[in-house]
Amino acid sequence: MANPHTRVRVTDLAAMKRAGHKITMLTAYDATMARIMDGAGVDVLLVGDSLGMVVMGEDTTVGVTLDMMVHHSRAVARGTARALVVADLPFLTYHTGTSEAVRNAGRLMQEGRAGAVKLEGGASSAPIVRAMADAGIPVMGHVGLMPQHVHVLGGYRAVGKTPGEAEALLADARALQDAGVFAIVLECVPADLARRVTAELAVPTIGIGAGPHCDGQVLVSYDAFGLYQDFQPKFVKRFGRLGAAMSEAARAYVDEVRGGSFPGPEHSIQS
Ligand code: KIV
Repeated sequence: MANPHTRVRVTDLAAMKRAGHKITMLTAYDATMARIMDGAGVDVLLVGDSLGMVVMGEDTTVGVTLDMMVHHSRAVARGTARALVVADLPFLTYHTGTSEAVRNAGRLMQEGRAGAVKLEGGASSAPIVRAMADAGIPVMGHVGLMPQHVHVLGGYRAVGKTPGEAEALLADARALQDAGVFAIVLECVPADLARRVTAELAVPTIGIGAGPHCDGQVLVSYDAFGLYQDFQPKFVKRFGRLGAAMSEAARAYVDEVRGGSFPGPEHSIQS
């Protein structure tokens, strides 16, 4: 386990892999929830571009902009004392030239106060990863199902089920490691393939819908806590029922205000 009192650094994650300690990662989008998850001992808080769906109510992550990510990353960083904060580079912010990509990643660190960035893509993203690493920006990779590619993938689906896709994914993971990523997210990948990638790489793998053999696990916190109820992927486990608890609290508030019992004397300022 990384030291429970000091800030988690990217190098701690590799040490956790070597020691066989599982890495825990959840998404966060604001300071209040970040403080709760940080206090619970989550190692990495990912300011995921999933915020486009769970916070903004969109169907995909494609509409998320760099300014939105900077804004949410700064809030999460403010609420975090120990966890490593990783911010997603959103759609089209790292594909239109290396210097623009490095500058955009730099904004997530300088203005968004993230400790690292994450980007989707395999071997074709390796030169960008290398340029960022050379500039002192730690990069987490993301292969398998890449939600920013939903329109070319033709929907959200598992990746790596055929031998060809499995070999391509392994080659992508190797290329990212060679380019300097400090960890790789494997999303919606068969468990045996995730086991192979994890065994072969020196950098940690963090799985979502990739089975139990990865070096760590990540979930979208709104899914894990039962807040996002529009759709539940098969690999999600609900660890809480916050959506139901919030609706109950909202109903109680409505009833008490309508019934005149809130605010009572104890919640009123006396002259
Ligand atoms: O945006 C996100 O929340 C992610 C996770 C699903 C890994 O990238």
